[in-house]
Amino acid sequence: MLTEVTATRYVTPLREGGSLPGIVEGDDLGTYIMKFTGAGQGRKTLVAEIMCGQLGRRLGLRVPELVQMQLDPVIGLSEPDQEVQELLKSSGGLNLGMDYLPGSLGFDPLAFEVSAREAGRVVWFDALINNVDRSWRNPNLLVWHGELWLIDHGAAMIWHHNWPTAEKASARPYNASDHVLATFAPDVAAAAEEFAPQITEELLTEIAADVPDEWLAGEPGFDSPDVLRQAYVRTLLARARTISEHITLGEPSGDKPSQAPEWLAAKLPRRAVK
Ligand SMILES: Nc1ncnc2c1ncn2[C@@H]1O[C@H](COP(=O)(O)OP(=O)(O)OP(=O)(O)O)[C@@H](O)[C@H]1O
Ligand SMILES: [Mg+2]
Repeated sequence: MLTEVTATRYVTPLREGGSLPGIVEGDDLGTYIMKFTGAGQGRKTLVAEIMCGQLGRRLGLRVPELVQMQLDPVIGLSEPDQEVQELLKSSGGLNLGMDYLPGSLGFDPLAFEVSAREAGRVVWFDALINNVDRSWRNPNLLVWHGELWLIDHGAAMIWHHNWPTAEKASARPYNASDHVLATFAPDVAAAAEEFAPQITEELLTEIAADVPDEWLAGEPGFDSPDVLRQAYVRTLLARARTISEHITLGEPSGDKPSQAPEWLAAKLPRRAVK
């Protein structure tokens, strides 16, 4: 189970996030990014954050710690923004918290160098969870204390939005051409060798247990949260067995990521992140 924390102060909304996440303080004196159950994206976003975030952490990737956060909307009463007020009012009770990384920077492929090994690990992980939300348009990677951190897995596992077709959809290949780390020659084969054997039924079952019942209850076609948890386990397990052969890395689609001109690239002090 994830640690449970109670929100004690709403600090400020994060304007960059589509779902209007907020910075919140907890009764453990920690500071968290709070993702709200009342946000338009719905609770499946939070299920994906937990399943994928915890999976990444168990594989040794850097994902900030996740907690269950209890919210009493009264803590936001002095917040002047109407939109924030509405969001807090509709999110009383259980929400998701992610440890806030103060002073972190958004990852920029022009400013930071990532090893082929590390790029491969992130690409393979994103292929496993069907994450299309780590493109050069929207990297969802932070650099903190010289290391790469993975955030925002809410849009992953797209197949869980339609369970009747999930088995078929989850077998689809993964096109990593637009991935923000595609230009670092990701060593996907090494990552497959390292990660695929670690994705076991036991591991996935433990991770699924971290998702609170109330975000799983009532899914059509599933009698109980545990039956739905098993479906997540089955689907991810099947994908882990086949995905390594189905990752493609080609030319980026549409507009290309911006690149520094050669004369400038030579001068740019690209810092290596781990
Ligand atoms: N743990 C964290 N520590 C520091 N900053 C964070 C953290 N998590 C998120 N942020 C900041 O908040 C922004 C929005 O977060 P996130 O991408 O998770 O939200 P979102 O609503 O899912 O966003 P979108 O759908 O627009 O990508 C990030 O781009 C980042 O700048
Ligand atoms: Mg994001």
